[in-house]
Amino acid sequence: MTSLIPFLILIPVIAAQLGQQHSPFFSLAQNSRCSTFSSSFRSKAFTILDAIYYPAYAPVDLTNGQATVNTTALPAFCRLVLRIVTNPGNGKDAGAELWLPDEWNERLLGFGNGGWGGGDHTGSMWDGSFAGPGNDDAIIDFAWRALHMTTVVVKSLTTEFYYRPYTKSYFMGCSTGGRQGIKAMSIFPEDYDGLVLGSPANPFGQLMPWQARQGQLVHPVGSPPWIPEKTWNLIHAEAVKQCDMLDGVQDGIILDPLACDFHPETLQCQSNADASTCLTSERLSALRHLYAPYYVGPNNQTYVFSPFVPGGEYAYPQGLVGEKLFRMPEDYYRYFVLNDTTWQVSMLDEAVVAMGIDTNPGQMDVSKILLYQRRNHQLRNALLVRTQTYSPNLTAFFARGGKVLQYAGWDDELVSTGHSVSS
Ligand SMILES: *[C@@H]1O[C@H](CO)[C@@H](O)[C@H](O)[C@H]1NC(C)=O
Ligand SMILES: *[C@@H]1O[C@H](CO)[C@@H](O)[C@H](O)[C@H]1NC(C)=O
Ligand SMILES: *[C@@H]1O[C@H](CO)[C@@H](O)[C@H](O)[C@H]1NC(C)=O
Ligand SMILES: *[C@@H]1O[C@H](CO)[C@@H](O)[C@H](O)[C@H]1NC(C)=O
Repeated sequence: MTSLIPFLILIPVIAAQLGQQHSPFFSLAQNSRCSTFSSSFRSKAFTILDAIYYPAYAPVDLTNGQATVNTTALPAFCRLVLRIVTNPGNGKDAGAELWLPDEWNERLLGFGNGGWGGGDHTGSMWDGSFAGPGNDDAIIDFAWRALHMTTVVVKSLTTEFYYRPYTKSYFMGCSTGGRQGIKAMSIFPEDYDGLVLGSPANPFGQLMPWQARQGQLVHPVGSPPWIPEKTWNLIHAEAVKQCDMLDGVQDGIILDPLACDFHPETLQCQSNADASTCLTSERLSALRHLYAPYYVGPNNQTYVFSPFVPGGEYAYPQGLVGEKLFRMPEDYYRYFVLNDTTWQVSMLDEAVVAMGIDTNPGQMDVSKILLYQRRNHQLRNALLVRTQTYSPNLTAFFARGGKVLQYAGWDDELVSTGHSVSS
């Protein structure tokens, strides 16, 4: 049976200048190589489902639940649609693609996934039900295996296609893709020479309960702590007013949100005030929690995740604190952790949080971040010092010369930045 797996595209990086003309002869040759190549291979490790040749600037429209590629800007390439066997023991496999440009600079670039990493080709990247209950293969493939097996297969296919090996392999991914990259660097240090990782969704077992908790602080819509979008605009204006000038430039941007000691109580409603122009005490209290690190356990001493920071208020209601609760945490506990399809996110408690972190489904997290302490008790925002360092073992990756760039957005509405900032 076909398991429902992350979808990965590996593209040998395009070497040619886009404007370069190809002779018709060259394109024809590459076109026929694309189709003969795909039929010349029989392997237990993968199946080539389709091989499609796109001449330079041809429309490429692959918009679906996992991908939005709709462009006429690409040079000529051969597109291989693959199934990669991820568990030879029972034939479980994963979907992937390999794009091979006519003109190649001998480099590979792997792309990571977002959300639930694709599921199958027809499902949505926000639907985690492919994982269970108890679908261990799908969970392991999501966690690390599909990317690794795909990387191995694609490296050899590329060498066969061009009759020469790649010189460098790169990886780029954001969110789930960022987590995939961290995992790959630590357990398969040979897979990639260089990685660009955005806002890693990591550690997932701690991100999921935080995402759920942020939503619950303001839900249900219309309850006293519920913050409507208009009120978020008000809060944003106040945060910018208080902290824009910390960097000496009045540009509407808070350059370093961690330096911003935001006092939202300046917006507190006076008696009889119109609540659309100020913050009620319930909303103010919810806001303080949204902007404070998430702790659980006795005396709230066990750190789980970093908070929203001032400045991103126009983005936050598009994510975890919007009208629709963000679905990933519910699917995570339902299908990956508890194997209970009736579980609802309103049932999240500390025992379930601990179970997710301890289960670490598919070993998707490299390590746990355990205890943090506030650096400065005067500040409400997340100034944290690690008392137990977050440490994937990257010794082997760096020893072979591996390089990584990591970035995160202060106003990220789904993954806060505390785990990308060194303290
Ligand atoms: C892709 O772009 C073309 C041209 O702009 C448009 O006609 C088409 O509807 C787009 N496809 C999708 C799935 O949005
Ligand atoms: C749920 O299923 C997964 C995968 O089969 C398993 O690892 C985990 O222990 C199960 N959890 C519970 C609470 O039964
Ligand atoms: C932990 O923090 C929550 C949220 O601020 C609070 O409601 C709860 O009373 C605290 N628990 C303890 C044991 O301090
Ligand atoms: C980290 O990995 C290196 C190389 O693989 C190994 O020698 C070392 O023992 C590991 N360190 C820890 C703390 O696991």
